[in-house]
Amino acid sequence: MLKEFWYPVACIKDLKENRPLGVEIFDEWIAIFLDSSKNVVAVEDRCLHRNARLSKGKVVNGELTCPYHGWRYCNNGQLSSVPSEGPKFTPSASKCIKSYETYLQDGYIYLKLKSSSNGTSRIPFKIPYLGAAGYEHIRLIHKFRAQVPNCAENFIDIPHTTFVHPKIFRYEQEPQLIQSDVELKDGNVHVRYLNETSNFGIFSKFLNSKSSTIFHEDNYYFPNVTHVEYRFSEKMHFNITSQSVQVTKDETMVYTDLTYNYGFWNLLAKPFVRWVGKKIIAQDVDIMRQQSDVTAKYGQQFLSMPSDIQHVFIELIYDCLRNDKDPTTLPNRQKRVEFWI
Ligand code: FES
Ligand SMILES: [Fe+2]
Repeated sequence: MLKEFWYPVACIKDLKENRPLGVEIFDEWIAIFLDSSKNVVAVEDRCLHRNARLSKGKVVNGELTCPYHGWRYCNNGQLSSVPSEGPKFTPSASKCIKSYETYLQDGYIYLKLKSSSNGTSRIPFKIPYLGAAGYEHIRLIHKFRAQVPNCAENFIDIPHTTFVHPKIFRYEQEPQLIQSDVELKDGNVHVRYLNETSNFGIFSKFLNSKSSTIFHEDNYYFPNVTHVEYRFSEKMHFNITSQSVQVTKDETMVYTDLTYNYGFWNLLAKPFVRWVGKKIIAQDVDIMRQQSDVTAKYGQQFLSMPSDIQHVFIELIYDCLRNDKDPTTLPNRQKRVEFWI
């Protein structure tokens, strides 16, 4: 079932007219190119002739050309010409490579490996506030050596911020008691923090000078999206949307979109927000690598505390998907949690 969802595999701006792109998802190699009508086409990245990588070739008149002996493929994956055969070559439906559905949204190329088994079709998750008036946008792409659900858990995990991102988020020496409402609803997870007043360490003075209560919500949307939203004050709004995509058995590509409205400070803050974003993600990449190494050696047996309940929900949902079960059939649950950060 996991292969029946849309996943981002590249940014549309990186796909040039005559150059195919090679991407990887669920251990499949895929070549992406633009056909003569500028439609995005995705096909398996393997030439029928002698297994060269089609993504290393070029696009000629909207057809994908193999770098080894020049065989060409059209936009439905069918072999259209074989140079060594000259004009006598006749294309046939049996000489065809696999092609995949694509979808463009928010500057991403989305790809689906399989059609939905239950006939329903959802569009990809829309990045909140992308392109909205008054909002700036930063896109960051990183590879994690980790599994998708572990990445998703990390992106909506509050207690780690004190230790993995010291000073950027929180100070260890000033713990606060926090309450949250955690809900598993229709296969998604929503966490609402109730009494947070300071959560961005050294930046708190700028973001929330009056130390008022921050609106903070963390959401997980199956199978692979997390959305974190902060309203530090009336004028300071910040969103982090992360899409985690399994590329190989051990690796996940994470597409992060930061959309924020700091009013007057929007542009001045941009290089700084980008720098902090990259720093935070690099710290998460490191800790997730450690987690993966230990899990590979000893297996995944986690001991959870009340503050981990959203992670337990994510694991439940993802296990459903791994076992081809519809997570929306899980019973809805709600819990109020208290914890120190
Ligand atoms: S391997 Fe592709 S044309 Fe020969
Ligand atoms: Fe983190």
